[in-house]
Amino acid sequence: MITRRSLLEMTALGAAAAMAAAAEPAYTLPKLPYAYDALEPYIDAQTMQIHHDKHHQAYVDNLNKAIGGDPTLAKLSVEELLQRLDSLPAAIRTQVKNQGGGHANHSLFWQTLTPASKSGKPEGRFAEALARTLGGQEKLEEAVRTAALGVFGSGWAWLTTDRSGKLAVEATANQDTPLSAGRQPLLGIDVWEHAYYLKYQNRRPEYVAALYHVINWDFVSERFAKLTA
Ligand SMILES: [Fe+2]
Repeated sequence: MITRRSLLEMTALGAAAAMAAAAEPAYTLPKLPYAYDALEPYIDAQTMQIHHDKHHQAYVDNLNKAIGGDPTLAKLSVEELLQRLDSLPAAIRTQVKNQGGGHANHSLFWQTLTPASKSGKPEGRFAEALARTLGGQEKLEEAVRTAALGVFGSGWAWLTTDRSGKLAVEATANQDTPLSAGRQPLLGIDVWEHAYYLKYQNRRPEYVAALYHVINWDFVSERFAKLTA
């Protein structure tokens, strides 16, 4: 039997559920696709934990704050937000560029890494494009390394493609992303000190060399195939 009291309780529960749904953040931290220590000895577990749980989480939280529950913007993926920065309200544009960039860049970064035993090599159409336009994996790694070491301060080195499959190596400052310039990142090297300082201190070249042991080439090859299909 439904009493007045149980009815009131049910209503209160319904209201609580509705409030919880309304408070659901638009953007959430993706889970790491492997354990914190999976990239050892190249990238240490403590760096991975702080990088993912603290730094990436902060970008997500700050992006949610910047969007402030705007229902129109909250419907867009973070990539869509970054692709249309110029059309966003001026008051939040910089925050979306920095915090949204941080969220998108790290979300891709985790996926492009894998334990060394599974790193593999470029495959299929991606391997062909790489050989044709950049001269193969070794030349690519050299070009990305040069871009990574050339970033003054914090930023990223990238391998990018356009829809036609034209590959390019580029660098961005801070959390800027090639998405905002109409290009698609395939692989990004995070050269913020938070990505390597605990293990490598100021030795950025050692960190970049180590990262090459744990690149998920299957993922990068498949991403290229999807983006240029
Ligand atoms: Fe980072």
